[in-house]
Amino acid sequence: MVSKTPMITTLDGVYLDHNATTPVDTSLYEFIPNWLSQFGNPSSIHQASRGPRTLIREARHHIAETLGVSPLEIVFNSGASEGNNSIIKSVWDRKGVERNEFICSSVEHPSVMKAMQAIQKKGAVIHWIPVNRDGELDMAFVQRVLSHKTALISVMSANNETGTLFPVAQLVPLARAAGALIHSDCVQVFGKQALNLKELGVDYATFSGHKFYALKGSGFMYLKKTAPFVSLIDGGAQERFRRGGTENTLGVAAMGHIVQKMKSINLTGVWADIQSHRDFFETEVRTHIPGVHVTAQKSPRLGNTSHVMIQGIDAETLLINLDLDGFFVSTGAACSSGNPEPSPVLLSMGFSRQEAQTSLRISLGWNSKRSDMERFVERLKDIVARLRQMKKEWDDVAL
Ligand SMILES: Cc1ncc(COP(=O)(O)O)c(C=O)c1O
Repeated sequence: MVSKTPMITTLDGVYLDHNATTPVDTSLYEFIPNWLSQFGNPSSIHQASRGPRTLIREARHHIAETLGVSPLEIVFNSGASEGNNSIIKSVWDRKGVERNEFICSSVEHPSVMKAMQAIQKKGAVIHWIPVNRDGELDMAFVQRVLSHKTALISVMSANNETGTLFPVAQLVPLARAAGALIHSDCVQVFGKQALNLKELGVDYATFSGHKFYALKGSGFMYLKKTAPFVSLIDGGAQERFRRGGTENTLGVAAMGHIVQKMKSINLTGVWADIQSHRDFFETEVRTHIPGVHVTAQKSPRLGNTSHVMIQGIDAETLLINLDLDGFFVSTGAACSSGNPEPSPVLLSMGFSRQEAQTSLRISLGWNSKRSDMERFVERLKDIVARLRQMKKEWDDVAL
């Protein structure tokens, strides 16, 4: 049975990096051992396959119901990187279609950006939608470039770095009028806001299990019944030939379980609390730390995300100091760690490389508490003051 309260894995310290990945919901500790014994191949005919097949069927049903779509429109895969690549390349690969233009925001996740660049090398024309410093999409640009040549519009529902929400619902009628298809990367909104894909009207959407308290390496795509699709991975008849390969039964079952659990939680209340903790953080840092800019503060944003730039502070150094003290945050997208280049998202928004290198993202989750935020703000104040003092001493010596 699912529990009524969010209970998730904890670790020593304060975890504020939920947009990178969420902890695993502890209710899964109870369920996964049972599922482990259901080892059969879901595609087999004999009895050992029935349990795993049932787990997959139920998960598909729960997910489809939550999103207001048909179970036949849900295709399990390894996550949104695979989903984004599959959809974009599939639309490009369609034979006999004259449309060769794609419209895409300039702040998408790398799995969208790079898939677009890959088809660009094969002859696709990509129109990158500019965003302003508040993270808002240039809708007039979309209207200018949209034509009978547009194959696909791809715009994420929320940005993983800044939390900015994009007006996908407004793009759908524009795409329809031009006869184009439309995809949205819904990774960051799923589980944080109500999402009905049928009402939204997109043709494709992509999701990752580890962003909503399930397991890494699991995800799914929504492929509308009428939307053309060619499998990226050829293989057996799994997922009705739309994604070859033996299913990740545990990963799929975990996603179905969490989606069911979410129905029993007052998510609106949980997210209202989370937003109030986020707002508390922003008020405190703006009041007590000079030179803090809160990115996209005036735009519609995810309630769990805060992206700040702290003047004169090298974000990597700050992050390491916070890490040593048990506060786990990010300097930007987790997938960019180990990459010294500043965030392309911030550069696209018009920030300088220098500004981008001062940026810190905190993203809260189900178990984030006000007391964690109070401790975090205190620590941040001290570390920023110390780093600024050290910099001043260095600069004085250099004179
Ligand atoms: C918006 C967005 N899209 C796609 C992905 C890729 O998800 P995965 O790494 O699970 O494939 C991420 C992960 O950070 C993301 O935040």
